[in-house]
Amino acid sequence: MLLQGKRLIITGVLTPQSLAYGIAELAQQEGAEIILTSFGRGMSLTERSARRLNPAPEVLELDVANTEHFARLTEKLKASGKPIHGVLHAVAYAPEDALGGNFLNTPWESVATAFRVSTFSLKELAVAVAPVMTEGGSIVALDFDNSTQAWPVYDWMGVCKAGMISVIRYLARDLGPKNIRVNAVASGPLITIAAKGIPGFKQLSDTWTLSAPLGWNARDRHPMVAKTVVALLSDWFPGTTGEVVHVDGGRHAIGSPPVDVMERMTAAAVDDERGPKE
Ligand SMILES: NC(=O)c1ccc[n+]([C@@H]2O[C@H](COP(=O)([O-])OP(=O)(O)OC[C@H]3O[C@@H](n4cnc5c(N)ncnc54)[C@H](O)[C@@H]3O)[C@@H](O)[C@H]2O)c1
Repeated sequence: MLLQGKRLIITGVLTPQSLAYGIAELAQQEGAEIILTSFGRGMSLTERSARRLNPAPEVLELDVANTEHFARLTEKLKASGKPIHGVLHAVAYAPEDALGGNFLNTPWESVATAFRVSTFSLKELAVAVAPVMTEGGSIVALDFDNSTQAWPVYDWMGVCKAGMISVIRYLARDLGPKNIRVNAVASGPLITIAAKGIPGFKQLSDTWTLSAPLGWNARDRHPMVAKTVVALLSDWFPGTTGEVVHVDGGRHAIGSPPVDVMERMTAAAVDDERGPKE
């Protein structure tokens, strides 16, 4: 089993649709002992999801916008006297006015919240857990790729994700000497609670399906992400750090949908412009 003997911290399990839930489930199947984190009103949902896992893992409180919670997490992990070998960062949030095409008008306060929860929290989490990663290990964060392009509607969350990849590289630099690898998995669009909060998500995932050479379905590709994250948390990527691995059906490598699909889209757009036929 890939993760036999490993102890992992897994953030971001809210419902069984959460990407982190699939990762937690597969990590257990691969022999890992896992500890979940959650926060605020989400705690009870996470606890309910945890009861579906076997064995039901402990759920620790961690609001990533609360510095004290990180200090408490470190103390709690140190008190257990056992090392941690892997960490999953699967946390993101942006206020409504930071998404949906409002890029030019989003106030700093909303950007600051999105950046703290979605980007800076990765550094905070790494610093909180590194003292108990005494045998080295692997930190993995979930990304939606914004490294070279702007997307419709994703707005400041896109900026936060681009920043997160930069954080990955700086953490890889600083934690490499402790034999801790830090990587990201860039997933294609998948239906989850967070995704439902992104206006235009359905249209984005539909065009993904048309463009990805391996195909894509926002409903059922969660296990693909789980497999890749589990592999990165295992000992099978020993020389890889500061990297972004795409699990997106190959969409990132392709400029536009195939010609026949574009022809159909163009014809539909021209029809729309002409208006209803007499
Ligand atoms: N769903 C997708 O299409 C997709 C694609 C690529 C990357 N991702 C990334 O995957 C990760 C998980 O998202 P998901 O889609 O599984 O949705 P989700 O809603 O299931 O998970 C988001 C998690 O963030 C947590 N969270 C929000 N604010 C927090 C805070 N202040 N403190 C602690 N936790 C907080 C929520 O409790 C929740 O568990 C996110 O980083 C997201 O950007 C998702």
